[in-house]
Parts: sequence; C-alpha cells; structure tokens
Amino acid sequence: MLGTFTYHNPTKLYFGAEALNGLNEELPKYGKTVQLIYGGGSIKRNGVYDAVVKLLADNGKTVVEDGGVMPNPTTEKLREGVRIAREHHVDLLLAVGGGSCCDYAKAVSVSVHEPEDPWEKFFVRYEDPEHEIVPVGCVLTMAGTGSEMNGGSVITNHAAKMKIGKVFDERVNPKFSILNPTFTYSLPMRQTVAGVYDIFNHICEQYFSGTDENVSDALSEALMREVVRASRIVIRDPENYEARSDIMWAATWALNNLIGCGKTEDWMVHMLGQALGAYTDATHGFTLAAVSLPYYRLVMPYGLEKFVRFAKAVWNIDPAGKTDAQIAEAGLCAMHAWMQEIGVACTMRDLGATEDMIEGIADATILMDSGYHALTREEVIQILKESL
Ligand code: NZQ
Ligand code: ZN
Repeated sequence: MLGTFTYHNPTKLYFGAEALNGLNEELPKYGKTVQLIYGGGSIKRNGVYDAVVKLLADNGKTVVEDGGVMPNPTTEKLREGVRIAREHHVDLLLAVGGGSCCDYAKAVSVSVHEPEDPWEKFFVRYEDPEHEIVPVGCVLTMAGTGSEMNGGSVITNHAAKMKIGKVFDERVNPKFSILNPTFTYSLPMRQTVAGVYDIFNHICEQYFSGTDENVSDALSEALMREVVRASRIVIRDPENYEARSDIMWAATWALNNLIGCGKTEDWMVHMLGQALGAYTDATHGFTLAAVSLPYYRLVMPYGLEKFVRFAKAVWNIDPAGKTDAQIAEAGLCAMHAWMQEIGVACTMRDLGATEDMIEGIADATILMDSGYHALTREEVIQILKESL
C-alpha cells in the first residue's frame, strides 16, 4: 500500500532538438542580470555556449560569467559563486552543463541572501533556506543526476573529506530546464555511461524497499528496462537521437520525486558512493558502480521477494527450476553483465581508493535505515573491502 504523499514539481521543461528556444519564453520573466554558470569548457567546444550567449543577448541580458564549476563542486567554488552573485546583484542563475553546474547553481541560489556559512547551515545541519532564493534555470548537457527537475544539491568539502547531498524543497528546483538530447552527443563515452548507471541506481534506490505491489515500482521497472535498452544502443551509436532522448527523459523521471511517491527509499548505495567520492573525487556514477554489487548481495536476503521481482521484471530471468535465492542472484548477475557490457563495472581501487582509506570512507558514510536492512559499521567495512 502506498503511503500518504504530496506531489508538486514546479520545474517547467522544454524537451527536444529545438528546446533551447525555450529561453526566449523564460528569460523575459527575470531581471536584467544573469549569472552564466558552466563547467570546464565543454560548452565552448560543442557550440552550446555560443548559442546560449546569443539568446541572452537577444533578450537584452547582462551576462556575468561564472565558469570553472568542477565535477563534484566544492565549498570553495560555492563561496566564489555567492560572491559573484552578491557583487552583481544577479536576477537569474543560469546553469549550462551537467548535474554539477545545476547543483552548484542551487547551492548558490539559497546562499546569496544567507548570512551564515552555507556549508554548515545547509549541508552539515541540513537546514532549509529562510531567506530569498535567487531563481535557477538549467540548460542540461549531461543526462544522469535528475538535478534538472529536483531540489537536490551535492557539495564536496575536501578539507572535511565530506560529500553531502542536501535535498531542498521545491522552492529550490530550477524554474525551468532545457533538455536537448543532441547536447549530450559530445559527452565522452565514459561520462555517458556514468550517467546511465547513475540513472539506473536512482531507480534502484527508490525501488528496493517495501514488499507490496504498487504503481511507483511498476513505473520504476519500465524505466529500468528502457535505460538498459537505450544504453545498449548509445554505446554503439553515440549520436542516436532516439537513444539519447530516452536516456535524458529517463534521467529526469528517475529523480524528480515521482517514482518514490508513497514509498520509503533506500539511498545506501549513494551514501557509500558519496563517501568514496569524498576520498577520491571520482566520477559519481562510477562510485556507485564500485559499491553496488557487494551492497545488493548483502541486503538481498532481507528483501528477497523484491530482488526476485527485479530479476524477472527487469532482467527477464527464467524462474524455472530455480529457488528464489537463485532467481535473485541471477538478476544481480545479469545487472553486473550489463554493467560490464556498457563499461561501468569497476572496483574502488580503479577509482583511486586504497586499503588505508577504508576506515575513513566508512566514517564518511551516512547510514540510512529505510531500505531492507540497516547496515552496521562492520557491514559497511565488509562492503568497502569487497568493493576494493
Ligand atoms: O565541466 P565540463 O567541461 O562541462 O565537462 C563535464 C564534466 O567534466 C562533462 N560534460 C558535461 N556535459 C558535456 C560534457 N562533456 C562533453 N559534452 C557535454 N555535453 O562531463 C563531466 C561531468 O559533468 P558533471 O556535471 O560533473 O556530471 P553529472 O551530471 O554526473 O553531475 C555529477 C554531480 O551531481 C551530483 C553528483 O554527486 C556530482 O557531484 N548528484 C546530484 C544529484 C541531484 N541533484 O539530485 C543526485 C545524484 O545522485 C548526484 O549525487
Ligand atoms: Zn546519483
């Protein structure tokens, strides 16, 4: 039975090969000064920067540049972004890039009028914003995080060796997001598949809880099948519009709060992955891939029924002649084979982790208790050792 919930997602989406024209509808709604947020330069190489800057000029905007947002944006960069926004009294934060740019824009948006240190207030104490929030818009160039239609923002504090995601309420969602699948053609394949696994795991995090039959889980199964199908096309044919658009659309629905409606959620793979990310600064999707199998094998006996359903519904495992445990294990093996096929299967060591980091990564792992099994510290260590 689904629990009680309220669902409201205020982000307006423009999807398709001409989606960028949506800026002509959106930009007039905001004041003159736009902070243009982007990453390390991919948008200058693939033409997206020029197209966005032209539309900003056509709409009479003054552009304040804020480039150099790194993958896994840091507290230092956040403080710089806040300083820029304050100095220029910006009216809109326009993030052009992947989840890192979009997450960063949201963190800046809640911090501009916040007198306290944003890391302490929002990410350590997990408080909500009480002051004016500067609106955020997003032009997405990488499919994965779902940041384009949610209130999540993940910030890394290297000094504290912590990577923390704060899920803000819908006031912090982007006001609009532009989703043009062709903008993802220029992604290196490694980033594409990291995004694919991130999408898949977001769905798993919301799927692996509860024992009832429900619509949210049925939606999740359909999304997982589509992500797997489209990923197999995109690794062979990176400019396949259909596959790129299916991946982009699935990413949005995988983490815009819909498929978690009425359910408890797990999120333990993300907690392990984020702690690993704090130590290695590795690409988010790969950090999840490194810890997934040992984690799911450990919790499988506690949620066996759902793992059996996952094996049959997502991986088409034939149950004939198998025990439930064998069906569930066959499902995880099929998932692992797919991860190998698309090139995301990896170990923590592949990402730069070493044995002496395990205790620290375990300390940085936030323990959740809403999946099938609340991990003990010893179990966290066991998973990390098996993932190494
Ligand atoms: O910096 P540039 O030059 O733009 O290059 C980026 C970056 O190196 C590149 N890239 C992006 N679009 C491209 C492109 N390169 C060529 N062509 C394009 N079209 O890809 C690299 C990775 O980009 P990034 O934005 O870091 O990737 P992603 O979208 O995976 O975002 C990762 C961040 O989002 C957080 C992660 O923890 C991580 O910090 N997450 C945010 C979530 C949320 N808001 O709900 C949930 C997720 O679980 C995740 O934790
Ligand atoms: Zn993720």
